[in-house]
Amino acid sequence: MLDFIIKKLLLKYVLKHPLSYNQIDIQGLHDVLLNYQHRNHEEIVFDFEKATSSQLLNRPVVAVSSGTAALHLALAALNIGAGDLVAVPTFSYVASVNPVLYTGAKPVWIDSEETTWNICPELLAKALKKFNTKSKRIKAIIVVHNYGVPANMKEIMALAKRYAVPVIEDAAEAWGASINGRPCGSVGDIGVFSFNSNKTVTAFGGGLLTTLNSKWEKRTRFLASQARLPKSFYLFDEAGFNYRMSPLTAAYGLVQMKQSQHLVVKRQEIFTRYSQAFKNHPKISWAHPLEGDVASRWLSAFRFGTSLIPQKIAQSLENAGFEVRRGWNPLHTMKHLSAYPAINSNLSERLFQEVICLPSGAGSEQCLNALRELI
Ligand SMILES: Cc1ncc(COP(=O)(O)O)c(C=O)c1O
Repeated sequence: MLDFIIKKLLLKYVLKHPLSYNQIDIQGLHDVLLNYQHRNHEEIVFDFEKATSSQLLNRPVVAVSSGTAALHLALAALNIGAGDLVAVPTFSYVASVNPVLYTGAKPVWIDSEETTWNICPELLAKALKKFNTKSKRIKAIIVVHNYGVPANMKEIMALAKRYAVPVIEDAAEAWGASINGRPCGSVGDIGVFSFNSNKTVTAFGGGLLTTLNSKWEKRTRFLASQARLPKSFYLFDEAGFNYRMSPLTAAYGLVQMKQSQHLVVKRQEIFTRYSQAFKNHPKISWAHPLEGDVASRWLSAFRFGTSLIPQKIAQSLENAGFEVRRGWNPLHTMKHLSAYPAINSNLSERLFQEVICLPSGAGSEQCLNALRELI
């Protein structure tokens, strides 16, 4: 608790350089809202869907209240329910697994690969082979593109095809990243995005789901709006969710969509500045996209060899006013999640010890200068 209070105080008074933030475009929001003054507010959400779809190969999209909600809807559309097994990367933010738990399904943890830090296809193959019986079968795979670095989708999709398992691409951190020329989120069976406050393209919240399967698209749209049947009177025959995106969120999403390419390029440039500075350092490394893939670098995440004492570096940066974060704390090590089956290599635990996410917006230049003194 004390630790939490200290962190809050640090954020308020000491940390001058936040990890990730975009300047607020007040005028842009004002202009968008003015445009819809005497119209049905739902139109803002439909227009946001059009704007995002146009950046996702014109695929059908469903705008929802968060990335977490989008994942929950994706699982619901796939009929994932109590007792089902879902492969989930252990090196991810907890929102990748929470929706699995909401459905009553069980995660099967898959560890990372060295190159991309994302779900390791070899370990996934082991899991699919192990849990392939009638009573114990992996029914869906969740893939995360950590920090905007695309996962090895080629191998993952081949495995998914072989075992006939649908793939949910959790592209919450990967707006603007691409896999062999296709946007992240458009390669799996269902793609999911987040526009929460710390993302490269933010709407202060909100999420998106995309799929080419019209049955799943209709089902998620329906479930997101309380499962209301299309009758003029209020008729329901199952429990739905209040997961539709709010018009105000969509309004700010429209503002950001106009600048989305620029916002992604800015993050990539910041990452490049850090990586250029570290390129000859033998103890600093980073996740690499595979050939043909492009990373959007939501956060500038670097791996500092243990001899550099990464936690000391992180502490010194915090003391100097920079907000930094460790790599994800592996989900399979959490008390309430540790009993689920795991196909581990322990890489996730090493990444947790060694990865530091550095300020990825304003303040990155100053952070780099501070780091030069420390390494
Ligand atoms: C990998 C991953 N999945 C899902 C989410 C959930 O998104 P949201 O915060 O919009 O619910 C996030 C973001 O926080 C995330 O980083």
